[in-house]
Amino acid sequence: MNLDKNKVYEELKELRERAYAPYSNFRVSCIIYLKDGQKIKGVNVENATYSPTICAERSALTQLIAQGFNKNDVETVALYTDSSGFGSPCGTCRQTLFELLLENQNIWVYNINEFVGSYEVKDFLPYAFTVKNIDN
Ligand code: THU
Repeated sequence: MNLDKNKVYEELKELRERAYAPYSNFRVSCIIYLKDGQKIKGVNVENATYSPTICAERSALTQLIAQGFNKNDVETVALYTDSSGFGSPCGTCRQTLFELLLENQNIWVYNINEFVGSYEVKDFLPYAFTVKNIDN
């Protein structure tokens, strides 16, 4: 599959509109593009008590699993945040990305202005704690 970076950006911005972010007003969208052409989508969903808020990345990743897919089905992960800077995944999402995707899975990061860059899951979480660290 040959993904077009501009088309992906358009899809992320369209999906951004579905974010439920009345408290932060900071919208995030995430699309997991599968090798078979399907797309798994996630947005951030906030809560008046704040802590139940789920980020767009984890919202998409839980759907990946719930819909019966796994890391081997993933072509590209694309992430948009309302940031004017890097807009990188939060710590909890980095851990979840590491758990559910391949270490070298590419992640395309976009912000309000542009495509920021392509990264790998392991770039976001060096020295990750994984199942390999549970050695009991
Ligand atoms: N947010 C995400 O959806 N993903 C991240 O990786 C960073 C933060 C959301 C959570 C909250 O709804 C808003 O952005 C502000 O933190």
